[in-house]
Amino acid sequence: AATLKIAVIPGDGIGTEVMPYGVRCLQAAAQAFGLALHFETFDFASCVFYQEHGEMLPLDWKDTLLKFDAIYFGAVGMPALVPDHVSLWGGLLKFRREFDQYINLRPCRLMPGVRCPLAGRQPGDIDFWVVRENTEGEYSSIGGKIFEGTDRETVIQETVMTRTGVDRVLRYAFELAQRRPRKHLTSATKSNGISITMPYWDERVREMASNYPDVAVDKYHIDILTAHFVQKPDVHVIFDVVVGSNLFGDILSDLGPACTGTIGIAPSGNINPDKKFPSLFEPVHGSAPDIAGKGIANPVGMIVSNSVISFEEDKSVWAGQMMLQHFGFHDAAGAMLQAIERVLARGEAEVLTADMGGKGTTKALGEAIESEILSFKGT
Ligand code: NAD
Ligand code: IPM
Ligand code: MN
Repeated sequence: AATLKIAVIPGDGIGTEVMPYGVRCLQAAAQAFGLALHFETFDFASCVFYQEHGEMLPLDWKDTLLKFDAIYFGAVGMPALVPDHVSLWGGLLKFRREFDQYINLRPCRLMPGVRCPLAGRQPGDIDFWVVRENTEGEYSSIGGKIFEGTDRETVIQETVMTRTGVDRVLRYAFELAQRRPRKHLTSATKSNGISITMPYWDERVREMASNYPDVAVDKYHIDILTAHFVQKPDVHVIFDVVVGSNLFGDILSDLGPACTGTIGIAPSGNINPDKKFPSLFEPVHGSAPDIAGKGIANPVGMIVSNSVISFEEDKSVWAGQMMLQHFGFHDAAGAMLQAIERVLARGEAEVLTADMGGKGTTKALGEAIESEILSFKGT
């Protein structure tokens, strides 16, 4: 089989701590399933690089990354040293836009062995996908500051929704819903208060829904939707596929995983479905300056993000083995997810990290998953 070329960008903070286990688990999967993977690590798109070079990226970053099939990204941000909007717009957000990764797939699933902060929920009760628009919407650079330094000082930032941009994320979300057993889609809106862009979003949802008569559609304003996430996220009540604009999707994809225990286990696929550009796989979480350097970050989000399941194969398994799924390595991806589930289900305090109620280290959990993946060798 062809070699899959992966650009590894650890970034900052716990990104650099969880990345080695992401790579080791991929290597274990490669070994167990005979995949050919080639890794190359880059120091750019990090605040450390910025401090040295005054830029987040080298001039030739695009040509460099275009040679890879995928980007495996840790996390970026050192807000005490570099303003977040500088570090994020200078790196990660550029990748998402310039590589047209217009789908951000973020699964949310209650895993065996992980404490659920919501009362009475069992593994299997919560299992849905957030599909986030990833290249436009509220994340726009159109706007500015006028009358600076005066009493009339005013800042404006426009939300941009294009028909192409909205329709392509909706189409993806409807197709994902159509392949899931429950065939249900929830649209996040705020068309009562945001009176131009959000009614447009609703109108496109209605239009798109007419092409998918077998998919049941609900819409909720974002305020009550967040309440429903907490009060009734259950499989049999509502959520299956939840589609939202860039900002709403961002918020829902931290809240969803938090409702299933911790954002530390959540993966994120920034997908260019056309495969014209490399897709980027990363955990949902950031660089976590508050715990960086302690060796206690949960590596699961990083590990599963290399295997987030692509919707083509969605059997309501998880998005973890995302990157492998994306490239069609379904056995390896499935094994990786199973390995994670087995390790978490054992519920060992020495292995689970603090965010899951244990006292384990990144190393203990990362290595436990790695050896579980290796146990698939020869199966
Ligand atoms: P964060 O996700 O870094 O951390 C939020 C909280 O969750 C912290 O208390 C942290 O300790 C905890 N946490 C996060 N990941 C964890 C893990 N794997 N294991 C255990 N605990 C974990 O969000 P933040 O504090 O808002 O942002 C910190 C920095 O990261 C900022 O610079 C921000 O811009 C950046 N950020 C980057 C990304 C990214 O690279 N994709 C995403 C979010 C935030
Ligand atoms: C995420 C992050 C980023 C986003 C930030 C760091 C710009 O929160 O990947 O969810 O808002 O997309
Ligand atoms: Mn976020």
